[in-house]
Amino acid sequence: MSKELAVDVKNLTYTYPGDFTALRDINLKVEKGEFLGIIGQNGAGKSTLVKGITGLIKPTKGEIMVLGDNTKEVGIAEMSVKVGMVLQNPDNQLFAQTVEDEVAFGPENLELPEEEIESRVQKALEYVGLEDIRDVFPPSLSKGDRAKVIIASVLAMEPEIIIFDEPTTGQDFRGCHQIVNVARELNEAGHTIIMITHHMALVAEYCSRVLVLCQGEVLMDGPTGEVFGKPEELAKTHIVPPQITVMGNNLWSELGLDGALLKVEKAKEVIRNKVKVET
Ligand SMILES: Nc1ncnc2c1ncn2[C@@H]1O[C@H](COP(=O)(O)OP(=O)(O)O)[C@@H](O)[C@H]1O
Ligand SMILES: [Mg+2]
Repeated sequence: MSKELAVDVKNLTYTYPGDFTALRDINLKVEKGEFLGIIGQNGAGKSTLVKGITGLIKPTKGEIMVLGDNTKEVGIAEMSVKVGMVLQNPDNQLFAQTVEDEVAFGPENLELPEEEIESRVQKALEYVGLEDIRDVFPPSLSKGDRAKVIIASVLAMEPEIIIFDEPTTGQDFRGCHQIVNVARELNEAGHTIIMITHHMALVAEYCSRVLVLCQGEVLMDGPTGEVFGKPEELAKTHIVPPQITVMGNNLWSELGLDGALLKVEKAKEVIRNKVKVET
């Protein structure tokens, strides 16, 4: 039996008002519990695709099913409980006076009982490690912490699917890993994660599968190792695999190994074994 689908995009074409077609005949099935990366050059259509999945924009042709419902038939409020989205720039999403109010806003709009709201806010803040600064004015926080406030506000809605649209842009190394680690923990806790990012090393480390978009069409879709093993294809959408994979792509076949090298830890292991054998 096939696994249940979180997202089923069928023959999606999307044309913006003004007649620019940003997505052409896209097909994508995401199973529940996946950690999918979406990559592609600027303007490839990544954000448009995830906006479609959240229901913010409706297909011009084709359809998008989210957890069994057609986005054309579900209202924004109902969708916000199914899918949450963390945008690239946290500052466009922040508006409340305190961290706590920011996180409580969504559940308050759902008109949940007061105790339920409090418990969700508490849980979400603990999740991202911000429970001690709940009274702080969000704009005064570091960029990494501001992003965490947005993640907490999405979590408080308890959506099954969580989308990150370039959450690491403008974050330092530590901020990047903190954010993506939260995504991984959420994935391990059962959430379906879709992450758009330009950081290929993060894709290699965290995503099990990658969708590659090029000029509004699907260029590749497959396990991360397979996708990064095809640098000539990736070049069409101006993507270079992570350095570790580039090194591996040359070395791997010489060593008689299959697939692509994605993680530094794996490289260490292989090289260590190889050196051991030869000395
Ligand atoms: N509101 C809009 N109106 C018209 N064209 C748009 C709009 N938003 C995005 N586009 C165009 O659609 C294409 C895809 O954009 P987008 O999905 O944001 O790409 P990505 O996220 O991959 O950088 C781009 O060429 C962009 O200029
Ligand atoms: Mg984008």
